[in-house]
Amino acid sequence: MINLFYKFNNIPKDHGPKNSHPTDRQKKFTLMATQFLITCKTDYEKILAREVALYNFTPQTKGQGWILAQANDETFTKENETQTIIPCFAHSIRENPIPVSASSVNSLTDELINLFTTNLGTKRITDSWAFQFSSSGSEQLIHRAKSVEKHWLDKLQKKMSRVAKLAREGIPFSASFAQGFFVHFTDFNQVFVSFKALSAGQQRMLMDPKSPSRSYLKLEEAFRIYGHEPKRNEKVIDLGAAPGGWSYSALKRGALVIAIDNGPLKDPVKLHYNMRHLKVDALKFTYDYPKPVDWLLCDILEKPEIILELLHQWLGNKWCNNFIINIKVGRNDPIVLLNKIRNYEDGLLPYCQSLHIRQLYHDREEITLMGQTK
Ligand SMILES: C[S@@+](CC[C@H](N)C(=O)[O-])C[C@H]1O[C@@H](n2cnc3c(N)ncnc32)[C@H](O)[C@@H]1O
Repeated sequence: MINLFYKFNNIPKDHGPKNSHPTDRQKKFTLMATQFLITCKTDYEKILAREVALYNFTPQTKGQGWILAQANDETFTKENETQTIIPCFAHSIRENPIPVSASSVNSLTDELINLFTTNLGTKRITDSWAFQFSSSGSEQLIHRAKSVEKHWLDKLQKKMSRVAKLAREGIPFSASFAQGFFVHFTDFNQVFVSFKALSAGQQRMLMDPKSPSRSYLKLEEAFRIYGHEPKRNEKVIDLGAAPGGWSYSALKRGALVIAIDNGPLKDPVKLHYNMRHLKVDALKFTYDYPKPVDWLLCDILEKPEIILELLHQWLGNKWCNNFIINIKVGRNDPIVLLNKIRNYEDGLLPYCQSLHIRQLYHDREEITLMGQTK
């Protein structure tokens, strides 16, 4: 079993891009907790369970879109080894989930109000705080969660209007666990409640009707998670660019883009004044400039091992400062692939100042790598 934690020791904290989210390995889990409910895309539960096992968690139970995992003693207890990475397939991580069940909306609402007030105790809330009623699965379950949420908020409003006014929906996307009240429905009458949760940052993005393709959504989401995006006049190389959704996203930010693809680009990217299109094979393209390009974007439709080889060249030679790479996992084993990427000896990690790996909301059988080279 690979324990990734100790490998991240002594990595300085201040090397990420300015204003970016800290790298995953800098996110500290200083926990007394031993159990987590981790959510994921539906049908990825087994993969998530295998992934967290790599990081010394013991997966226990799973349902549609969630797993429960136990942190082993050695996962967190060794001195200076409390740093971890966010699992690629996790969407949210909830600490010490408490199971609550009740057979009607009213009784469940009452149970949840009791739990909230008991946990609050004599604490005084003066700042805004987070809450979420989520579910994975069917439309009915989503509807159930919404219905209980509404009743719960109404009751809270009646009971403690000042506290209710400070409630904000959603798990805030930040480097550390947010405190709040997080309810996840795993069945009609069964929820898990946590008072601390962490979002892995995936989010449905708004489509821009002018974009030449829907792939645009992936890059927009990746910029959000990475916390950093191309600035005006920064140079971007977009490998596998056609029809141009990713280039469009960079051009919108005022970047200067070289698109590399044998296929045709579409309007409005095609004739954009900050755009150059090279109709060449991206796998054979070599970057021959004294300074690294600010951004490498790569969305080539190719096998993962070929993209990894290409990345060894780009990141190993430091041809770029920042990178966003979409890898089409297809029928390959994603865990084998993650191991190859995160391997500290011959993976991509040695080239990286920061590396975030996620299955995005807009990814299908794909994963996205975001980071900065050393
Ligand atoms: C998923 S599409 C890219 C979509 C693009 N990111 C967008 O936002 O519109 C994959 C692209 O990879 C390109 N491609 C595949 N092999 C390539 C290669 N060896 N060199 C350059 N482009 C390649 C294809 O032509 C195709 O346009």
